[in-house]
Amino acid sequence: MNDTTKLIFERRSVKAYCDKLVSGADLETIVESGLWAPNGRNLQSRFFSVVKSPDLMDKFIGAIREVRNDPAANPFYGAPCVIYISADPESTMADLDAGAAMENMILCAASLGIDSCFMVGPLSLFTHADADTFKEDLQMPENYRPVCALILGYRADGYTVESTRDMTKVAYI
Ligand SMILES: Cc1cc2nc3c(=O)[nH]c(=O)nc-3n(C[C@H](O)[C@H](O)[C@H](O)COP(=O)(O)O)c2cc1C
Repeated sequence: MNDTTKLIFERRSVKAYCDKLVSGADLETIVESGLWAPNGRNLQSRFFSVVKSPDLMDKFIGAIREVRNDPAANPFYGAPCVIYISADPESTMADLDAGAAMENMILCAASLGIDSCFMVGPLSLFTHADADTFKEDLQMPENYRPVCALILGYRADGYTVESTRDMTKVAYI
């Protein structure tokens, strides 16, 4: 098995993080890998909002706790940064584009030893009464629709994760 294949098979979604920050250089590499993902007609009708400001992370956590009516909610699992992807509502392929960008970033991060988790849960941020302010904080282009979020960081000490797959969900014809 080559290194890329091994990385794909061994990557797991990590749901508990330590405080260690992701370097700016690594973040830029990860985001660039998302920008280079395949996308419908190369229209590139998606936008990446990279949040690494602790203040903004705390603001979003507070808002999501309010929305969920759960003061203990930990929507980013303690990760120090999150990338929200939003998309042009006119684009019929935007969700697929976002998914392709996410997987590029996830694998790029894994290759750099950085853990991540593909998430839709943090979209609850946009059901808050201040959603428009949050979209401004994220510098989302006007009318763009939030699609998904990628948390990034380093797993908490002692955190282990396993996953399974149903290998029958395939037909070779
Ligand atoms: C579209 C999508 C949405 C997801 N949303 C969440 C989420 O909101 N919260 C969460 O904890 N994990 C979320 N996940 C991660 C899945 O739980 C995880 O990929 C799945 O359990 C398989 O585990 P693995 O990635 O470690 O193989 C999401 C994954 C995908 C692809």
